[in-house]
Amino acid sequence: MPLLRPEPRSGATVPRRRRAWVGPVGAAFLAAACAGPQSTLSPAGTDAEQIAMLWWWMAGGAAFVWCTVVGIAVYAIWIRPAEHDRTHGVRLILVGGVVFPTVVLAALLAYGLSILPRLLLPGESDGLRIEVVGEEWWWRVRYLEPGQEAVESANEVRLPVGRRTTLTLTSADVIHSFWVPALAGKIDMIPGRTNRIALEPTRTGIFRGACAEFCGTSHALMGFRAVVMEPDEFSAWLARERRPAAGAEPTDTTGGARIFRGYGCGACHTVRGVSEMGTVGPDLTHVGSRVSLAAGMLPNDSAAFHTWIASSSTLKPDVHMPAFSMLTPTELGALAAWLERLQ
Ligand code: CUA
Repeated sequence: MPLLRPEPRSGATVPRRRRAWVGPVGAAFLAAACAGPQSTLSPAGTDAEQIAMLWWWMAGGAAFVWCTVVGIAVYAIWIRPAEHDRTHGVRLILVGGVVFPTVVLAALLAYGLSILPRLLLPGESDGLRIEVVGEEWWWRVRYLEPGQEAVESANEVRLPVGRRTTLTLTSADVIHSFWVPALAGKIDMIPGRTNRIALEPTRTGIFRGACAEFCGTSHALMGFRAVVMEPDEFSAWLARERRPAAGAEPTDTTGGARIFRGYGCGACHTVRGVSEMGTVGPDLTHVGSRVSLAAGMLPNDSAAFHTWIASSSTLKPDVHMPAFSMLTPTELGALAAWLERLQ
C-alpha cells in the first residue's frame, strides 16, 4: 500500500530556476542587517563571541535538519514517485523523524550547556565594579572602586577593553532587563534583588544597549550606550568623572546655572559643584560629555537639550520629567548651552 502518492503535475509554468535565487539573495540581505552596534552576530566581547558561535551552530543545525527532511520529501514525491513499501516508510519515519532530530538536537543542547559556565564567570573581584539600576525609563550607573567614593553617571556604561568587569544589576521600580547584544547576553533587573553579569569587551567602540523586558509605556525608549575604551583612557575618564563639572560655576556666564536652580531642576538632578540634592533623576554633572541624551534617544548637542527640556513628555510618554515649556527661548538657549558645557 503506498504511503505517498505524487500529486498530478499542475499546468503552472513559472520557471523554477528563476525563483531559485530569491531564497539565497533574501537570506544574504537579512544577514547583512545583522551587523552594527547592537548585534549579537557582530560580537565585541568574549561572552558575545560564544553566544554568536552558538547561534551559528544552532542555525547550521536547523538548516541541516530542514534540508535533510525536505530532501527526503522531494525524493519521495518527485524523484522516485513510485509506490513505497511500508517497511521502508516506517524505517524512514523512525530514522528521519525520531533518531536523526534527537541526535542533532541533543548535540546542540550539549554544546549550548557546555558554554554556560564560561558565561557565568564573575569579573575580577578586587577591581572595578559597576552598579546599574533600571528606572522608568533610564539607567542609573555607579562606578565603585575599592577605597574610593562611588561616581554616579547615567544612561552610559563605560568599560575598559580586555578586562572582565562585574556589573551588579537591580531595579528601582519594575522589572527591566540589561542587554548589550554586542558584548554579552541579557539579564533581568528585578526590584529587591541583585543580579550579576560580567562584561569582557575585546575591542573599543560604542555599542548600543537596550532594555529587553517590557517595563511600561516607554520601554522601547529605554536605551543606553556601552562605551569601550583603552584601559588608561578609561582611568583618565573615571578620574575626570570624579571631579565636579568643568563647565559649572563660576565659569557660567550665560546664566544657565541660575535658570537650573530657579526652575527647580536641582530637586531631581544633581550637578556636583552646583546643586547636589537631587537624586530622583539622572546625575547631570558631566552630561555634556555623554554620547547621547534621554536614555539613548537623542544625540548630545544643544538642539537636543532644547527639544528634550521643552517637550520631554511628548518625546517619551509618561516620563517622570515634566516638559518645561514655560521657559522663554532665551532661557532655554542659556540652559541648553550650559548643560552642553558640563563636560
Ligand atoms: Cu525597562 Cu523595558
